[in-house]
Amino acid sequence: MPLVPELKHSTIPLSNGLQIPILGLGTSHDGGYSHKAIVYALNECGVRHIDTAKRYGCEEDLGKAIKESGQERSELWLTNKLWPGNYGYRAAKKACLDSCSQMGVEYFDLYLMHWPESLSHGGSNREVRAETWRALEELYTEGVCRSIGVSNFLINHLEQLKEDCSVIPHVNQVEFHPYQQPTALMEYCAERGIVFEGYSPLAKGQVLSDPTVCHIAHKYRRTPAQICVRWSIQNGVVTIPKSTKKNRIQENCQVFDFQLEETDMTALGSLHDGRRVTWDPTNVK
Ligand SMILES: NC(=O)c1ccc[n+]([C@@H]2O[C@H](COP(=O)([O-])OP(=O)(O)OC[C@H]3O[C@@H](n4cnc5c(N)ncnc54)[C@H](OP(=O)(O)O)[C@@H]3O)[C@@H](O)[C@H]2O)c1
Repeated sequence: MPLVPELKHSTIPLSNGLQIPILGLGTSHDGGYSHKAIVYALNECGVRHIDTAKRYGCEEDLGKAIKESGQERSELWLTNKLWPGNYGYRAAKKACLDSCSQMGVEYFDLYLMHWPESLSHGGSNREVRAETWRALEELYTEGVCRSIGVSNFLINHLEQLKEDCSVIPHVNQVEFHPYQQPTALMEYCAERGIVFEGYSPLAKGQVLSDPTVCHIAHKYRRTPAQICVRWSIQNGVVTIPKSTKKNRIQENCQVFDFQLEETDMTALGSLHDGRRVTWDPTNVK
């Protein structure tokens, strides 16, 4: 019996009717992948959503871990991302199909353009983004990607894509934690039916020693990580904390049996100072 049975059922609807699990498990390069932890998350913690990227270099291992878990593919939500070095119409289609075969799956539940800047030649960023997005639209129509989205896109990038293409992204995955709350972008996404997904919900660990977070954690008898994950979820933000440690994965999943009071949501909301722990797309044209 999974430790957190509710986890499977907590989802957010996308504009195309699919339901994305609100809590997923992140993976990454730089020591961000553990085979045993993935199998444990799937089989013991009720995790049904895993976030990865071609860039993280663990697609093949992840595919093996999923198979080893014995979980049905149809029960899982797998997000993958296209690296900017593979932007452009033909390169994007090939990269997506290659990623599917690396992971041993026939489709992704969500496929994202990882970053708004192009690393391939042959046009402005805007032109290459549009051309790449057309490839994703086709992969969506063909069923290779059940939903398509973007990551690290700002309002100007989304506005251009709307003018240039036909499918509005289903999701925008962006850095989101108490220190980094892009409220104007969140409102923009909400008004256009784009689900806002937050990455680095623990600010890569930086927010876990924050006095306000620790004070609230003490009040609820929870850990700082649980407070941050719960805060994202209560904001309606899809969240994907990463851990390679079984006990931390379990801890990060145990966030559905308590609720933060409004005053504590406000206190966490007031911690924004604009700090980023990853990359900053502000200057990408
Ligand atoms: N689209 C993008 O551009 C982008 C960028 C960055 C990240 N992401 C995605 O978002 C996921 C999460 O982001 P992230 O890895 O940058 O940051 P994060 O989830 O905020 O933090 C991960 C760090 O916190 C530690 N940690 C996890 N749970 C903990 C707990 N309960 N107590 C104490 N420490 C804990 C992890 O260490 P251990 O592993 O040792 O536990 C790791 O060092 C990534 O895995 C990736 O899937 C996407």
